[in-house]
Parts: sequence; structure tokens; C-alpha cells
Amino acid sequence: MAEYINPESVPKRRLSTGEEIPCIGMGTFGSDRFTADQVSAAVAGAIRAGYRLFDCAAVYGNEELIGQVFKQAFDEGIVKREELFITSKVWNDMHGRGDVLISMAKTLKDLQLDYIDAFFLHWPFPNYHAPGCDGDARNPDSVPFSAERFLATWAQLERLVDMGLARHIGMSSMTIPKLEAVLPKVRIAPTVIEMELHPSFQQPELYSYVEEKGIQPIGFCPIGSPTRPDRDKTEGDVVDIQMPEIVAIAQSHGVHPAVVCLKWAVQRGHIPIPFSVYEAEYVSNLRCATEDPLTEEEMSRIAAADKDCRLIKGQVFLWEGAKGWEDLWDLDGTITV
Ligand SMILES: NC(=O)c1ccc[n+]([C@@H]2O[C@H](COP(=O)([O-])OP(=O)(O)OC[C@H]3O[C@@H](n4cnc5c(N)ncnc54)[C@H](OP(=O)(O)O)[C@@H]3O)[C@@H](O)[C@H]2O)c1
Repeated sequence: MAEYINPESVPKRRLSTGEEIPCIGMGTFGSDRFTADQVSAAVAGAIRAGYRLFDCAAVYGNEELIGQVFKQAFDEGIVKREELFITSKVWNDMHGRGDVLISMAKTLKDLQLDYIDAFFLHWPFPNYHAPGCDGDARNPDSVPFSAERFLATWAQLERLVDMGLARHIGMSSMTIPKLEAVLPKVRIAPTVIEMELHPSFQQPELYSYVEEKGIQPIGFCPIGSPTRPDRDKTEGDVVDIQMPEIVAIAQSHGVHPAVVCLKWAVQRGHIPIPFSVYEAEYVSNLRCATEDPLTEEEMSRIAAADKDCRLIKGQVFLWEGAKGWEDLWDLDGTITV
């Protein structure tokens, strides 16, 4: 049986709605390397270990098996539904009129739930790629970001809140120009935003912008995603768990560098959602939020080590005529429309 960490000892953050969310959770994207069976078995172990936040998505292809794990955990009295914070996301091929509701219905059926705690618009474009594709794959139907199209899809997520199917809604992989274009026009603001955050990619401007709006940042790839799909690997990518600053701090705390990345995230204030199918890893990832914090000096040393190194560049979502992956991220400060 997995080592148990009392969920009460894991600090919580308060969302703008007043609801609480654990300061760390577990990711469930198998990165085309780990099977749905492996991931759902890890979720089962993680519930027993004390995790109460799980980051799911339709495109991860494992919600049906994870749903069986949730049901079993509820039936066996290991945890109550209201003690879990479960997220999911509508995939890029389901942005059309009415499709978000269909996507939500499938997710609820697969996860065997009657509501999702936070439902995300997975990417701000309707561009999608075939599962398991390589980095050169392009979809001829891909289009640049459009605020109008985004808002039409967002309105469908707002309806999910009205219907009581989503308690919160969230955006993901946004930029300041995109948020500037859409936030003033939404009826229901996002409570949470997922963004890539790890020591070599701290996104300080976007992070502050989101916090100032009262939105809780959730950090994906918090360990620098060493097992990410090959299509997301590019020459020159920084390996967070090999950064000298992270390795030195890990040595002085007697932990793996991955754990330092997570301690930094929790203490900075965003919610990391590390993935692992290995019990020793996911237990130490949760425990890191409950003991032996980093010092202020260590936090400052990591802040100074930012390399502005985006790992999930999203090049498979590029449209015809786009210059390169930078176009997805509005790097010249303007939206590419
Ligand atoms: N919103 C979005 O668009 C989006 C995008 C990407 C990811 N996500 C979410 O974020 C989650 C996390 O991202 P990720 O899975 O890409 O990356 P990650 O959590 O940064 O890295 C996961 C890898 O780190 C290693 N690891 C984990 N804990 C460790 C430990 N204690 N010691 C040593 N190594 C450890 C494992 O690799 P080994 O097998 O080598 O041990 C694991 O496969 C995903 O599962 C998903 O839920 C969301």
C-alpha cells in the first residue's frame, strides 16, 4: 500500500469564488509513453497516497479508465467526491457550436461524475493534430487565433457553469495579448489558467498579469517534462532537473531535483500538477508541499535562473503562412490574425 500523506497537511489555495483547491495535484497526460492502464493505476495509488487534485483531459485518452478508478475510490469510501478537485479540458477539435457540451457530456460519462471542478479550454485555437504525430505534422485546416472565435467557444463553457456541470472554467496556454483581447468581453471570468511553468520557464510577466486579475495560475510541465513526447523536444531545450542551481539546492535538501522544482512552484504560489506513474515519485512529489521548505535565498537563486525556455512550443498547431512556433505565442506583443 502507498505511503499515506494526510490531505489536511497539504496546504490549500483559495480561488476567487471562495472555493479551496490543493496547492499541488497530479497530471494525467501519459505523453504517448505511458498507457492509460499505467496512468489510471497511478491515479488509484495517488488517491490512496493523499492526492486530492487531478488534472485530466479528453485528449489524454484515459478518462474512461480514470473514471473507473474514481468510482471505485468513492464506492470503497477511500474519498468522497466533494473531497476531490477534478479538472478536464475540451480538445481543439470540439470548439464548434454545441460541441463543448458534447465534449463535457462525454467527459462526465467517462469520468463517471456529474460535475467537473474546473473545465478548461485546452488551447486557444481549434487546431488539432493526430494523436502520437511527430513534430513536423501540420493540419491544413489550422487557423490563427481569433478573439471572436475564442469568445464564441468560451460562451459555451460559460453555459456549462450556468448548467452546474462545471464549477469553474479555465483557459490554457494563453498570452497577455490574447487575455487582453478576451477578458474584457467574457461574461464569466476564468478562475484558473494553466500555463507552462518550471524553473527554466517562469513567465514572470504573464504570471503577474494573471495574479493581478485574481486568477489562480496552474503550472504544467512543472519538472520540465523530461518524458514529454518527442514532437515537443527541440535542440537547445534546457533540462530543469540538470540545472546547476536546482541540483545544488537538491543536494543540500537531500531530495531529487524534481522535488526542488515542485517546492519552488508551491512556494511561488502557482499550483504544480506533476505527472508520474511511479509510486516513490508521486509520493515524494506530494510530500514536498508538507515539509522542509526552500529558504528565501534558494527561492531567489531559482528566480534568477530563469532561461525563458519554452518546451511545449506547439508547432504542430501552426497554420499555413505562419513563420514559426513563435507566432503561436504573440512574441512581438501583438496577436497574429
Ligand atoms: N494545459 C495543457 O496544455 C498541458 C500541457 C502539458 C501538460 N499538462 C498537464 O501537466 C501535467 C504535467 O506535465 P508533464 O507530464 O508534461 O511534465 P512533468 O510533470 O514536468 O514531468 C513528468 C516526468 O517527470 C519525472 N518525474 C516526476 N516526478 C519525479 C520525481 N519525484 N523524481 C524524478 N523524476 C520525476 C517523470 O519522468 P521519469 O519517468 O523519467 O521518472 C515524469 O514522467 C500533465 O500530466 C498534464 O496533466 C497540461
